[in-house]
Amino acid sequence: MGRTGSPPVKSISSHRRRGTLEPIEADMSSPRHKLQIRTPVNPPAGQAFEQLAATLDAHGPVVLPALLLCDFGHLADGVERLEAAGAAALHLDVMDGRFVPQLTYGMVVVEAVRRATTRPIEVHLMVEEPESCVEAYAKAGADIVTVHVEGLTNPRRTLEQIASLGSRAHLAISPGTPVARIEPYLDVCDGVLVMSVEPGFGGQAFNPVALAKLSELAALRSQRGDGFRLAVDGGISTDTIGPVAAAGAELIVAGSAVIRTPDYARAISELEQLARSAA
Ligand code: DX5
Ligand code: ZN
Repeated sequence: MGRTGSPPVKSISSHRRRGTLEPIEADMSSPRHKLQIRTPVNPPAGQAFEQLAATLDAHGPVVLPALLLCDFGHLADGVERLEAAGAAALHLDVMDGRFVPQLTYGMVVVEAVRRATTRPIEVHLMVEEPESCVEAYAKAGADIVTVHVEGLTNPRRTLEQIASLGSRAHLAISPGTPVARIEPYLDVCDGVLVMSVEPGFGGQAFNPVALAKLSELAALRSQRGDGFRLAVDGGISTDTIGPVAAAGAELIVAGSAVIRTPDYARAISELEQLARSAA
């Protein structure tokens, strides 16, 4: 898989077909059968991510707004506003109340976001035993499924499983976890998410330990010839986005720095400009 040019090529058969009409019940003669057809999910698997990869290669780092602080009473409106504001992709924080203290949402909400946007969706799984649910989130429409190494018993197997489902497999590390812990799995990572806060809550202060890890991972990637993308999540602001981009971050998650502003387009554009001039 190449970091520049074409994204990783995966066999068509490994990609789920999205956007097809799936009858939930077999009895299509029923006069109500139209009500039993699921809303198509767009776009077809892989397409959205390929657009994101092209944007990264052409323009440099992108900001992924995190929905955690959105008004979930008007979720589709929030998603549409972020898309209209130019968000290249969206970041969804799934928390189970066990791996992290907070409980957020699950695949029903991921499916709802999938129906509301054509942009790529990253699902950041902060859950115990993520291997038990990666298939469900891939099927719910996640273009990127991100799993924490701290929660996995067999990281390689889970990353390969995510890839076999047609999603991009990203491995996350919390602030206290050294890069050495994930080095054995970098060859099967499509991306690495370096946490710059303790997972669990939006609006925390940036932990600079992430900068050294991003630099270490960027150096390892060029030494090894791997193609994984570098991502960062937590405490991103106009002050911290330049340093993370300079350290190699390409997919930059921003929650409060976007959602707590009145003008999403302005916030995303200002953050991306700062990242691109520092990269
Ligand atoms: C924290 C989450 C983050 C969070 C980011 O556990 O993984 O994605 O939403 O929010 P900010 O940018 O406010 O730190
Ligand atoms: Zn996150």
